[in-house]
Amino acid sequence: MDLQVEYATEADGLGLARINTISFQNRGMLSLFFPEASQQQLEAYKAVYSMKHLANPEMHVLKLVDPSTGELIGYARWFIPKALGGETVPQLSEQAQEAARDPVAYAPQPFNEPAYTAFRQLLETSRKKHTTERDMMLDLLAVLPKYQGRGLSSKLLRWGCSRADELGVRVYLEATGEGYPVYIKYGWKPVEEVSLDRSLYGAEGKESFTLMIRDPQPQ
Ligand SMILES: CC(C)(COP(=O)(O)OP(=O)(O)OC[C@H]1O[C@@H](n2cnc3c(N)ncnc32)[C@H](O)[C@@H]1OP(=O)(O)O)[C@@H](O)C(=O)NCCC(=O)NCCS
Repeated sequence: MDLQVEYATEADGLGLARINTISFQNRGMLSLFFPEASQQQLEAYKAVYSMKHLANPEMHVLKLVDPSTGELIGYARWFIPKALGGETVPQLSEQAQEAARDPVAYAPQPFNEPAYTAFRQLLETSRKKHTTERDMMLDLLAVLPKYQGRGLSSKLLRWGCSRADELGVRVYLEATGEGYPVYIKYGWKPVEEVSLDRSLYGAEGKESFTLMIRDPQPQ
């Protein structure tokens, strides 16, 4: 598929939310945090939340659109610290800026806040432990299931990896089991396994991630 990687805009909120909720459906995190929410409610909430990412000048939100349908089919969030330059200049309406200030206030109810807080803390602690102010981060990568296996995530990965290599910086991420082999292929190496014990929050099993770092590669 001949697709271009482009910056996402405010109008893409629902499209980003749709990819996010559908691609991560089998992980069960959303049903842990929002046990009674419908797909529509989750998409509406994630669309609001995406404004927070778009409003962050250090967060580069990139999309892939199917040119034959106009459907948004994949996206990535690359965090590039200010210290490395190249901030994005987001253009958001007043309403989007308001949503970006406190998106969690729009969470569907009931909201399993203890589970959500524990998850955020797990990610934050892991990031503090393994990253410095000069590391890039791949904050999210997802492609709609029916478009997977066609090299689409590779396009989004090449965008960030080539920037990291130009800048000579590392890239940190938290990999799902699905992402892991893709990241290995692109030069990431595992540094730690972490997990959230879902049984502490009224569910079963655990949610595991592999923390991975990619060293810059010679150009
Ligand atoms: C992980 C995910 C983004 C991959 O998207 P995708 O578009 O199917 O991936 P691609 O087809 O672009 O594959 C990427 C590369 O990894 C390779 N690859 C994919 N699966 C692989 C596997 N199991 N073993 C080895 N290589 C693999 C592909 O060959 C491709 O390389 P190429 O472009 O040089 O051919 C997608 O499965 C997804 O959205 N999953 C759900 C959300 C998720 O878990 N995201 C990761 C969060 S950390």
